[in-house]
Amino acid sequence: ENSRIALPVGSNLDRFINKNQEAFKYATGELSQLIRDLAYAGKVVNREINRAGLAGITGAYGSENVQGEEQQNLDVAANIRFTRALKKGGEVAAIISEEDEDIIDLNNPRSKYIIAIDPLDGSSNIDVNVSIGTIFSIYRRISPAGSPVQEEDVLQAGKHQVAAGYILYGSSTMFVYTTGKGVNGFTYEPSLGEYILSHQNMKMPKDGKVYSVNEGSYRSFDDDVKAYIETCKDRGYSARYIGSLVADFHRNLLKGGIYIYPSTEKAPNGKLRLMYECNALAMIAEQAGGLATDGKQRIMDIEPESLHQRVPFFVGSKHMVEEASK
Ligand code: AHG
Ligand code: MN
Ligand code: MN
Ligand code: MN
Repeated sequence: ENSRIALPVGSNLDRFINKNQEAFKYATGELSQLIRDLAYAGKVVNREINRAGLAGITGAYGSENVQGEEQQNLDVAANIRFTRALKKGGEVAAIISEEDEDIIDLNNPRSKYIIAIDPLDGSSNIDVNVSIGTIFSIYRRISPAGSPVQEEDVLQAGKHQVAAGYILYGSSTMFVYTTGKGVNGFTYEPSLGEYILSHQNMKMPKDGKVYSVNEGSYRSFDDDVKAYIETCKDRGYSARYIGSLVADFHRNLLKGGIYIYPSTEKAPNGKLRLMYECNALAMIAEQAGGLATDGKQRIMDIEPESLHQRVPFFVGSKHMVEEASK
């Protein structure tokens, strides 16, 4: 369909962004520049992750974030890198981040975009050399440019996202994103410092045989979730749970599968945060033919009430999420 950006695999992200911009006839290039800024920050964070053990930036930072989690050094480092790159880039009016309690107003008088970001997803995996990621959503601000950013600018339902994506720092580093015209994946070539188009127009299989859930909390799952997990076992599905949402999500995007973080005793609304984890991956999932719910309703229809609000998260192959959601 015309939304496919016709470019040869092997093209780089920059050319793709320019081609994509042509498809938006009123584009002024600001969103394109913003995507470039995010991709650049991802290269810097990628390098720090790859040498964390050498640079002594593994381990705990020594403070807690608003989530009550112990911040890792790389959580803080990634947060600084992305915030700084976006401030310098000049396209972003404000950022909400997992690692900052309040809205970061960048006081950019003319910028019209808002970013919601999880600078480093899967923090418990940093020191043990397991894949981690970055997750981001892009919104257009509602209040007039030049005025202080309001809560209405940052608390927007996922269906208003202009773009969304993630970076997966895995066996290879990938930049995967959508601007509402399909999902495309770029593999980072460190020797060139370029993201190369490797996965064009990504589609999530409608069915799968993999389920990702932390069964350590099985006892406190509600009956519907327990019943669905039993069904997966009856069908002989594979259990895969990496502890990094981005890595589990990416595998399910390519091969089919479902990721569930349901309500548990410790986390009655689930653990994952609507604004900078669930909405972005929900947009990617739907753009690739998948689905994301909170167990009842579409994630992207949820009207947010607070910056760090948690929701139960069911995301992946359409038929699997439909079956697991009541
Ligand atoms: P973050 O590291 O950004 O706080 O997110 C971690 C999330 C997600 O990436 C992962 O799937 C989940 O937490 C793991 O949680 P449990 O250890 O409770 O299963
Ligand atoms: Mn965290
Ligand atoms: Mn996360
Ligand atoms: Mn995080």
